[in-house]
Amino acid sequence: MPRVWVDGLPVQVAEGARLTSALGLPPVACRDLSGAPRGPLCGIGQCFECRVRVDGRETLACLAVALEGMQVRRD
Ligand code: FES
Repeated sequence: MPRVWVDGLPVQVAEGARLTSALGLPPVACRDLSGAPRGPLCGIGQCFECRVRVDGRETLACLAVALEGMQVRRD
């Protein structure tokens, strides 16, 4: 099972799982300009509510497969 790092904390995810499964329950992917939490809605890359930064690049968590050692930032 791959281990990814979410905001500096280790999270173990199932092999082949999307990054959304590493964001916790309820899943908080990012925050809007007011600081309110935003989370995955559609799960198919259409709503952009699951934006995270993976190894410094903006990514949709619902489309990205979790790989060992990924550094995920939700800010
Ligand atoms: S959950 Fe909608 S784009 Fe990822």
